[in-house]
Amino acid sequence: MLKNTKTAYGWISILLHWVMALTIAGMFGLGLYMVELTYYDAWYKGSLDLHKSIGILLLGFLLLRTLWRCININPDSADKHASKFEVTSAHLVHLALYLLMFTLMISGYLISTADGRGIMVFEVFSVSAIPFSVANQEDIAGEIHEILAWVLVVLAGVHALAAVKHHVINKNNTLVRMLKVQTTENK
Ligand code: HEM
Ligand code: HEM
Repeated sequence: MLKNTKTAYGWISILLHWVMALTIAGMFGLGLYMVELTYYDAWYKGSLDLHKSIGILLLGFLLLRTLWRCININPDSADKHASKFEVTSAHLVHLALYLLMFTLMISGYLISTADGRGIMVFEVFSVSAIPFSVANQEDIAGEIHEILAWVLVVLAGVHALAAVKHHVINKNNTLVRMLKVQTTENK
């Protein structure tokens, strides 16, 4: 089952969710590590190139995921006893996670292209810079990027705890249906 239904996530949503969640966690660690390196460290340039290349691919995945979500059904809450407040806050958190992912990646792009040069992605293709920049763009976008990265990781942590709470305390299939497709046989 590739597409979502009213009660289950399909494989495409599940794969996009987990590939992106794991990559974002890795990008957060890589980001914190690479800004501590100096010009004389062997991995100074390599780590930055890797971070930028993966970041651009991640932006592509995010565009695909947003498109997929728009043309697809979204499952209703798996928790039959959820209050209106819980359902609305879960939706708001999902929306905030999308907005944070977009703004984080755009701010990363703006740091990297502040000098007017494009981004080379894994030596395969390059993404151009926009033809104008603002004063101190690199520093301003850098500050914003750092703050957004922390906010995204903390909010994703709260979101993950909520998923685990549904599994352990409420004992419903909120988490399980994001791990594997729920068909009538395995429900
Ligand atoms: C989900 C995606 C991303 C995450 C989680 C992430 C995370 C981070 C973190 C934690 C830092 C260290 C910030 C600091 O302590 O100063 C950082 C720095 C940086 N990121 Fe990202 N980043 C992401 C995407 C991107 C993208 C798409 C680009 C560019 C295409 C990018 C370019 C940079 C650059 C150039 C720096 C170095 C900033 C500096 O030297 O101050 N990042 N990133
Ligand atoms: C950076 C990390 C993460 C991000 C950005 C993220 C983002 C999202 C988003 C946007 C959704 C809404 C469905 C969609 O449009 O794809 C979602 C659903 C979900 N996520 Fe995450 N997620 C992250 C990590 C996690 C982790 C670590 C867990 C579990 C431990 C988790 C469990 C879930 C579950 C169970 C759902 C389905 C919720 C429902 O059916 O209402 N997520 N996630």
